[in-house]
Amino acid sequence: MNTARVRSALVVVVLVGAGLTFHPITAAGPTLTIEAGAATAQVSPLFNGLMTEEINHAYDGGLYAELVQNRAFLDAPNAPVHWSIVEDGGAARMALDRDTPLNATIPTSLRLDVTQASAGRSAGIANDGYWGIPVKPNTRYRASFFARAAPGFAGGITVAIRSDDGRTTFASGRVPALTSTWKQYELTLTTGSAAATTSAKYVLTTDGPGTVWFSLVSLFPPTFKSQPNGFRPDLLQMLIDMKPTFLRFPGGNYLEGDQIADRFDWKKTLGPLTERPGHMAPWTYRSSDGLGLHEFLMWAENMNAEPILAVYAGYSLKGAYVKPGPDLEPYIQDALDEIEYVMGPATSTWGALRARAGHPAPFKLRYVEIGNEDFFDKSGSYDGRFAQFHHAIKARYPQLQLISSSGFERPENERVKSVVPDVVDEHYYRTVDVFLRMARGTYEKYDRKGPKIFVGEWGAYETPFQPWNELSKGEAPTPNMRAAIGDAAFMTEMEKNSDIVIMNCYAPLLVNVNPGARQWRPNLIGYDGLRVYGSPSYHAIKLFSTHLGDEILKAATADTDVLTSVTRDRRTGTIYVKLVNAATNPAPVQIELTGARTVSSTATALTLAADPTATNSIDAPERVVPVTSKISGVSSNFTYTVPASGIVVLMLETR
Ligand code: AHR
Repeated sequence: MNTARVRSALVVVVLVGAGLTFHPITAAGPTLTIEAGAATAQVSPLFNGLMTEEINHAYDGGLYAELVQNRAFLDAPNAPVHWSIVEDGGAARMALDRDTPLNATIPTSLRLDVTQASAGRSAGIANDGYWGIPVKPNTRYRASFFARAAPGFAGGITVAIRSDDGRTTFASGRVPALTSTWKQYELTLTTGSAAATTSAKYVLTTDGPGTVWFSLVSLFPPTFKSQPNGFRPDLLQMLIDMKPTFLRFPGGNYLEGDQIADRFDWKKTLGPLTERPGHMAPWTYRSSDGLGLHEFLMWAENMNAEPILAVYAGYSLKGAYVKPGPDLEPYIQDALDEIEYVMGPATSTWGALRARAGHPAPFKLRYVEIGNEDFFDKSGSYDGRFAQFHHAIKARYPQLQLISSSGFERPENERVKSVVPDVVDEHYYRTVDVFLRMARGTYEKYDRKGPKIFVGEWGAYETPFQPWNELSKGEAPTPNMRAAIGDAAFMTEMEKNSDIVIMNCYAPLLVNVNPGARQWRPNLIGYDGLRVYGSPSYHAIKLFSTHLGDEILKAATADTDVLTSVTRDRRTGTIYVKLVNAATNPAPVQIELTGARTVSSTATALTLAADPTATNSIDAPERVVPVTSKISGVSSNFTYTVPASGIVVLMLETR
């Protein structure tokens, strides 16, 4: 192992924040040499994005703002899970009913038989939400439900958000009467000054006896920019703050489903919620598909990011696949239709549907991925499937760049060979130690004349990789500082090779931290119904992505274990020096800068440093966060000491 050669007793004094830091000067020559006059390549403009799928209750119980779990009574075939009977002096029973459906898409309703009720003695149903209904003070909620009443029912429906113990009503409203045919009822519930809590339920009660059926019972808090059927603002803001340039969706395994019938069948995720049946997703729970294709596109647009659309390519996780040839044609047509929905003119068949959903302008689409991790298809059919998709899509949209879901990290026999993909997707879930090794030269070796690289899923983990087994061991849902070091190390490697690694995104992105909500660890951002926090890895990625620069500078290191990447913002002259020190001792780095006319004697250092085991959590969200400080004594040859277990972005102002 190399260690920095610190030979001199000479020290420089640098002002860091309010304190003084002493930096030993190495007498052994520069450990980081930056040639400001030599930009080796452009930084990929799409470099840092986000990967997403329905896992860990990322959407239902996460970013998708709906608060009612099992709103359509389709989540379990035999019981109205997440619903319970409420008897406030009255009496009632409930059951799933397949004989009185809302429509053919939502074939099950909830039948409520109220056997006793009168003024002041009500009965009804309650939903426990996603680990509680989050209540915030002075907030307006949009409640809605479909209902029909049997002949003889003469009651009204009281809709309320109530504490779990039933003693506090945070907000309520009333529908005075129901019709005998299905009708949607909508009302606004406004909370008062009571403190925020998740110990609450959504309750619908009646003071009249008789039978009522319910369907699509919904409750929305305020959404991002008040968009209907929209997003949780605090979660979306965390993502916007990362300045992502693209959103890769809809997966991940979520694209493929366990079986072909469980794939992300995008046509069934469009239009009014009454036309969305939802589907069984691979991560052990059903998806409402409230966050469907159109919402993915709106999500990307809200972040000012570009969609990277993955189309289903005829392989599902439990091994079923569609043979290349005529059998695959319907799936290819489906992908062409999907692309038309995204980028076709409003006059096209599918573009018109998008326009009807409120977005006449086509979305920008430049990259389409064919499948997800198709190297798992041991039949060897991916080569033929990819080629068939490739020819059909290129024939209609020659400008689209097509991504193979099997990259160079896979053995040769698992890669596409019969056509050359424009881009290949590589996935790396690796230990910190492996990422530290990979940070030294992995992408330098890649053939610049070959396909571009999309690292479409990556993430460092601290312990031997058992993402599912670890769930029972009480492991934290999000990674610690040590993992962030591994992540940052790998990012330096990708960034300085971003002429070939044109896009990258960490996975998984989101995790609801409530017990039982997650299927994977580690994940980037954790939340419950009311709170959200970023892991150390979140802060590391944000530090990198918000200080990207647009040209890669020639830089060389010697005699140091510190990992580096150096870029510059051409317009401002700011040079971003990223430094990652995995060691548990501070690491002095002597920086020599050539080729710049002037360098300001002060610079800004953004530092994320902590004990390797330190982490953030829902109750301690800011234990590990970046600190900004000014440093002085900067010149064309100066020494900067990277803190132990530290990630630093140094911003040098040059001309
Ligand atoms: O990110 C979690 C899973 O890891 C993704 O769904 C899949 O693509 C990969 O195996």
